[in-house]
Amino acid sequence: MSTRTPLIAGNWKLHNTVAESQALAGGVRKRVRDGLPCQVVVAPVATSLVPVRETLAGSAVGLAAQNVYWEDSGAFTGELSPALLLDVGCTHCIIGHSERRQYFGETDAGVRKKASALLVHKIVPIMCVGESLEQREAGKTLDVVLGQVEAATEGLDAVALAPLVVAYEPIWAIGTGRTAKAEDAQEVHRAIRDHLGALKGESWADTVRILYGGSVKPSNADELLAEPDVDGALVGGASLSADNFIPIIDAGVRRAES
Ligand code: PGA
Repeated sequence: MSTRTPLIAGNWKLHNTVAESQALAGGVRKRVRDGLPCQVVVAPVATSLVPVRETLAGSAVGLAAQNVYWEDSGAFTGELSPALLLDVGCTHCIIGHSERRQYFGETDAGVRKKASALLVHKIVPIMCVGESLEQREAGKTLDVVLGQVEAATEGLDAVALAPLVVAYEPIWAIGTGRTAKAEDAQEVHRAIRDHLGALKGESWADTVRILYGGSVKPSNADELLAEPDVDGALVGGASLSADNFIPIIDAGVRRAES
């Protein structure tokens, strides 16, 4: 169906102690054999990055941070840099999550700087975009989402952006149990890919993984992942238990094998 390797990412948000994070990572690791045709990444809280790296050592599961600052070092109290994330083995980093935009003032300009800094350090940005319910009901979904994509990639060409992952997460679907209909998700994913193609080149845009996020669970993962431009999932609540997360990984494997 697609030559893009599916990616299933677990966003653990502000949950889990070190011991709980390690136990969960250990459960995920059991499912992810070498050679699995679907890539799997987990994003623990910052204090669990190093212990989870130990739990995942030698496995194919990637390690993601949930946020980053764009400077390498300096007088930036409370921040973590791409260099430090690389130092503890991060392969990916979530940026621009709607919770960060809503509660911590993250802007498109900041997302662009974070993406750029991560790419320099060869850490894959998982760049989140998505509209609010109000924006959707006003018919502004594509304006909002494509505007976020454009602003966050401005000034970066396809070579610099090469490994970028985009996550489309309608805000009204996050943590609410409401999921976008598969065909509505597909429409937005296709529009994101077309827009990236027009801006940066179609051959690159064809390689970009676009994940869907927002109440993904075992019961809806297959339907979403059957859409041609839904290349994986960014999973919040259902990633907090291996019993729920593993069936979503299985759906990613089925997509890869279809
Ligand atoms: P959810 O969260 O799966 O709990 O809706 C998704 C996300 O915020 O990345």
